[in-house]
Amino acid sequence: MIHIVEHPIIRERLTQIRSIESETAAFRHALHDIAALMCFEVTKDLETSEIEVETPLIKTAGHALTRPVVFVPILRAGVGLMNGFTEILTEASVGYIGLYRDEETHQPHAYYCKLPEHIAESDVILIDPMLATGGSAADAADEIKKAGATRIRFACLIAAPEGVAAFEKRHPDIPIFTAALDEHLNENAYIVPGLGDAGDRYFGT
Ligand code: PRP
Ligand code: URA
Repeated sequence: MIHIVEHPIIRERLTQIRSIESETAAFRHALHDIAALMCFEVTKDLETSEIEVETPLIKTAGHALTRPVVFVPILRAGVGLMNGFTEILTEASVGYIGLYRDEETHQPHAYYCKLPEHIAESDVILIDPMLATGGSAADAADEIKKAGATRIRFACLIAAPEGVAAFEKRHPDIPIFTAALDEHLNENAYIVPGLGDAGDRYFGT
């Protein structure tokens, strides 16, 4: 269940993000724009319920999201997509999962987890720009499921085929939304062509 999010502005901003010439400010700007555009696609099939609304003239039928929405960015780089997502869904709650990849083994190590109490009744959107080996996103999804969530989707910017396969094997029920499906991983488990280290580029480290 992989959805490639197609949009001319996303294609253009993604090119800026990939470019080695884009410094921190340009990188942040482009990431923000992509996040806001992706939010539309990722939330397109959220369920709504009919409610009554009173206009200044009359009562009429309206709609409300059936369930609360929870965004869960993976620290660090997922933070870079948050402003774009919360700009569209300002009422969403936000939980955080902190993971970093060991440089030698490429295995994720967890160091933080704080999720909203109502996550079990919510529509959850897990967010991280990169799906490389898939280990970080799959471990984060484990934590979210442990907290009781059942309606989860994963949004990323760039995915590697290896990461998609690994994630789908562990979480066949979670749809993946990505702006690009790249070629492969290199010997250091970096996505090729990719954009390099998303966290370092976003935080200027
Ligand atoms: C990056 C990225 C993902 C992870 C993807 O984080 O933001 O979380 O790598 O790799 P994977 O699919 O192979 O697990 P990183 O570990 O570099 O941590 P950082 O965001 O703190 O820099
Ligand atoms: N993490 C990144 O930030 N970039 C990659 O290409 C792979 C993992």
